[in-house]
Amino acid sequence: MLRWIVWWAAVFLLCPPATAMAAGIDLHWLWDDRCAECHGHSGDFARRLDRVDGELRVRHPVGDMREFLRHHYPVGREVEALYQMLKAQAATPPRFRTECARCHGPAAALARKRLVVRGGEVVSAVDGTAVAALLQRHFGIAAGDVAFFSAQLERVAREVHRE
Ligand code: HEC
Ligand code: HEC
Repeated sequence: MLRWIVWWAAVFLLCPPATAMAAGIDLHWLWDDRCAECHGHSGDFARRLDRVDGELRVRHPVGDMREFLRHHYPVGREVEALYQMLKAQAATPPRFRTECARCHGPAAALARKRLVVRGGEVVSAVDGTAVAALLQRHFGIAAGDVAFFSAQLERVAREVHRE
């Protein structure tokens, strides 16, 4: 029996969980650390970008944004993830800032502090409640707005807590 415990303990210590090994960087941290100084808030920046058939394009002659990002400021292997973040932000009106930020600060800060990704689902870090349910019981959020803010917070939570 003891031998099994020692064996499993050794396996556990030698093999960090697959999720920790595959996890990417917090994209909002990456942006604030390496891009914000020149480009400001990522959402505002994204909403000013050119879009062609739903894809983002750069005004630089290279055109393709992923190609541009590979040669602009270093982002390691996060080109695709950053591209997807900017693309989602470009399509998201700044409602979080006007309706929620005065109490919660930026969405990324709220998601970092209060939400986690567990079993693929974004839930409350406190009691595991789904985001839509959190917003339904939140004062002052109209029923018709729950889907919009849930989708945004779930995306942002996945961008900060990378799997
Ligand atoms: C030192 C300042 C500086 C930093 C840091 C910086 N950029 Fe830029 N970025 C620029 C300038 C200047 C331009 C426009 C000129 C050009 O095309 O290179 C630009 C252009 C861009 C564009 C194209 C915008 C358009 O509409 O064509 C994207 C996308 C972009 N940057 C993303 C990023 C990302 C992501 C980071 C962080 C990893 C970053 N930048 C860091 C200065 C910076
Ligand atoms: C007037 C201030 C205020 C505004 C505006 C506000 N909230 Fe909240 N929010 C709170 C308070 C207070 C709590 C509960 C107390 C706490 O745990 O911080 C809370 C809790 C939350 C939580 C749950 C955190 C958890 O772990 O249970 C989420 C998610 C949330 N708010 C999202 C939003 C969104 C999205 C908006 C905008 C549509 C918004 N809030 C607008 C004050 C506000």
